[in-house]
Parts: sequence; C-alpha cells; structure tokens
Amino acid sequence: MKVAIIGTGHVGVVTCVAVASMGHEAVGFDVDSEKISLLQRAIAPFHEPGLNEALARELSAGRLAFTDAPAEAMHAAAIVFICVGTPAGPDGEANLLAMERSATAVAHHARDGVVVVEKSTVPAGTADRLRFVLAREGDGRRFNVACNPEFLREGTALSDALEPDRILIGVESERAAILLRRLYEPLTRKGIPLIETDLRTAELAKAASNAFLALKISYANALARICERLGGDIRTVTDVMGSDARIGRSFLAAGLGYGGYCFPKDVVILERLAARVGYDFGLLREVDRVNHESVEAIAAKVEDALWILDEKRIAVFGLAFKPGTDDVRLSPSLSLARRLLQSGASVVGYDPLASANAKDERPELEIAPDAYSAAADAHCVVIATDWDEFRDLDLAALRDVMAYPLVVDGRNVFDSTEMREAGFSYYPTGQAPVLIDPSETWGVDISRGRIGVKPGSGWPG
Ligand code: UDX
Repeated sequence: MKVAIIGTGHVGVVTCVAVASMGHEAVGFDVDSEKISLLQRAIAPFHEPGLNEALARELSAGRLAFTDAPAEAMHAAAIVFICVGTPAGPDGEANLLAMERSATAVAHHARDGVVVVEKSTVPAGTADRLRFVLAREGDGRRFNVACNPEFLREGTALSDALEPDRILIGVESERAAILLRRLYEPLTRKGIPLIETDLRTAELAKAASNAFLALKISYANALARICERLGGDIRTVTDVMGSDARIGRSFLAAGLGYGGYCFPKDVVILERLAARVGYDFGLLREVDRVNHESVEAIAAKVEDALWILDEKRIAVFGLAFKPGTDDVRLSPSLSLARRLLQSGASVVGYDPLASANAKDERPELEIAPDAYSAAADAHCVVIATDWDEFRDLDLAALRDVMAYPLVVDGRNVFDSTEMREAGFSYYPTGQAPVLIDPSETWGVDISRGRIGVKPGSGWPG
C-alpha cells in the first residue's frame, strides 16, 4: 500500500519510517527542499536516537522516498497522513494554517477515495474543517477523513511508533477503517490493541491523554511546594502514590515542570476549546499555572541562596526540554535562564545536545562546552534537565571550580546526603534544603571575589 506523509518534522519522519518498516511504500513530502535533500541522504533534521540508521535502512530497501513535489508524493497513495506543525500562537491557540495548506494540496493532487488522516495534535473539530476544505478544493472527488493521533515521545519516538500501548483510529467511513486496519496489521498481529472510535472521540482522546499527563506533573509539583514548606520528601510521596496501580508511577517526577512542543500547547488548546463550547475547564488553567510556578519556585531558591543576583554567575545544566533530545521548544530551562538574566545574573548554559538550538533561541545566553567549564567561577549551578551525565559528575571537581559550593536541583538528580558530604549547599525539589554553615566552611577572599574556603578541604581560596 502506498502512503504519503505530509510534513517532515518529528512526527512526520518517524511516521515515514514506521510505515516503511511495516512493509508499506512510504513517501515523505515537505515544502522545505533543504530538509528533503537531507532526508534523501538519510539525515534527519533533528536528533532522534536510531532514526538515521532506520532512514538509511528503509531508503536502501526501496520502501521509503522523500520529495518536495506534492503530485509525486500523493500520486496513487491510498492513505495520506497530515503531520505538519500546529504551533501555538501568542494567544495559545493552535495555528492551523499548515493544516489548511496540506488539505488543499491533498485536494489538488490525491486520487479519488483517498483516506486523509490527521496525525498532528489538533483541536477537536479540525476534521470537520479538513472535510470542508477537501470538498471545496477537490473538484468533485471523494475523500475519507480520519484521525490517527500519535503518542510519540521525543527520544523514544521509534519504539513508541512501532510498539505503542494502543493504536487509536477515529473514522467515519468503512473504507477508512479497512485501510487503516490493513496499514497497522503488522502491529495488531503482534497483539497491539487497535481502538476504533468516531472522529471527534479520537481527537478528544488524544488531547485528553496529553492534558492528563501534564496534570499529573503539575499535581506532583504542587505537592513539592507543600513538602518544601511542611517537611516531607516528594520523591517518597510520589513513590507511594505510584505504587497504587490505579495511579501508576509515571509522570509524577516533580521538578522544573513540563515543556516541549506538545504539553504546554495541548493543555491550553483543550482549555480554550472547552471555553468555546461553554465549559469552564478551570482545572487545566491550574495545571498551566502550577507549571509556570515551578520555574518561579526554582528561581526563588536561587534568590534565597544568593540574595542579590547582580554580579552573580549562574550555570544552568541542561537546556533541552527533557533529556535525550536537542529540542528546546518551550523548554523550562530556557524560561528559567531568561528569568535569572532578567534579575541581573549572568547565566551560562550547558547541554550535551541542545546548546546550538538554545543559542539560536536565546542569543543572549553564554554557552559552555562542558559542565565543568560552565561551573567555573559560578556562584550557583542549577540542574534544569535530568540528563544522566549530570548524575555521573565528579562532585569534588565540580565544587573545586565553582565560586560558591551551591547547587539548586530542579530535577532531583542528586541526593541530599551525597551533596552534604561533598560540601555543597543543596536545594533539591520537594525536600528540605541542605545548608552548609558559611562561618564554618566559608572564608572571604576578596582578591578573587569569592566566598568559601574550608582550610584543607581542597576548596580554592
Ligand atoms: C509528549 C507525550 O508523552 C507524547 O505521548 C505526545 O504525543 C507528545 O508529547 P514529549 O513532549 O516528547 O511527548 O515528552 P514527554 O516525555 O512526555 O515529557 C514532556 C515534558 O514533561 C518534559 O519537559 C519532561 O521533562 C516533563 N516531565 C515528564 C516531568 O516534568 N515530569 C515527569 O514525571 C515526566
């Protein structure tokens, strides 16, 4: 079966590879010729583990091709997936221009009876709009609109696509149902459930899933604020909660909050959609508010520890919105960096993968090539993304290069006992801080502009 995929962003390219590895003929289309030329050489325009290898495999097997010519992509395709970006505008609403353009291209180039599938996360009701554009532009041809939302996480997108918990299809015609069942037959044969619903329900189920995951994170973050004030350890609180099978352990890690291309947008879009149909979904406004508050809570700890941020140097470890990706879109780390810069600090960032993208997004940010260079002469290190690399840092070496031995941990990558033993003042998330006594451990060395020398501790002075 030939399948065309419109849009070669994260979702589009992973869908291309998944469709090809299920044994179908996949053709990826994008208006961006540069991206297409990279993809034709098996180079993904973003980082995703294993993706370049999978692209090379499917391209050389002849099951996958890329083109910037819409007629070529859609010629003889039985199914067309629309995987274009739906970025949030300044008002938080999704910008659906690329969806409309894609529908117009499908209407002009695809064959009669084609199944047109929305894959990008869109506000519920978008399928009705697609149907309208297809009918208007389609010169009498018939189209079957369907919804098959993705549940791909960046960093594990390939396995999420090929070994999903479930496949969801929203259909309104038997033809769409038959073709989509046939497309996914290699996965359903292995026992992966396929849930078939009407279109609107599928659109809503996807939005509801992402918003609920975001809600779990904000719930954990609100509890973290209480643990910090009352005493208690958020890690254990969420561990106990998660051991109840009805709750589950995932998406309860408290920290700097959620970011990325999906959660921040999806929460706001669902709240707005509810408002448009006359339902006040205030719970989702709270999810969003707590998420912003999580960044502010970390900034407040830095201020609590350092008092005045002017003339202070702060190293932010981790700039991607989560580990394992180079994506900095709506990264809480960058929001924090901006907040600290606005308060007068000089901020230096380090990320194992996302430095270049972070520099593009925030040119005012100084970037260091590794964690120790970032920490050099810093008055505080903030852990903003939970890369494994940070867990393996040599704490003595880190402390030795810093101006103050202070770590604010926005992802709970360290343990209070190890930080106390390593001689740090340490502010974890949702736990009591560890404060070393400056009179005992810190002297003042005005010549180097530094506080903090414990004789014999190896601390530079
Ligand atoms: C998400 C959804 O998981 C996926 O199903 C969807 O279709 C696309 O959006 P992604 O944005 O790649 O995927 O990231 P995800 O791994 O879900 O993490 C989202 C954010 O939540 C990250 O910023 C992460 O750091 C944060 N997070 C996650 C937490 O703060 N705590 C947690 O416990 C889990």
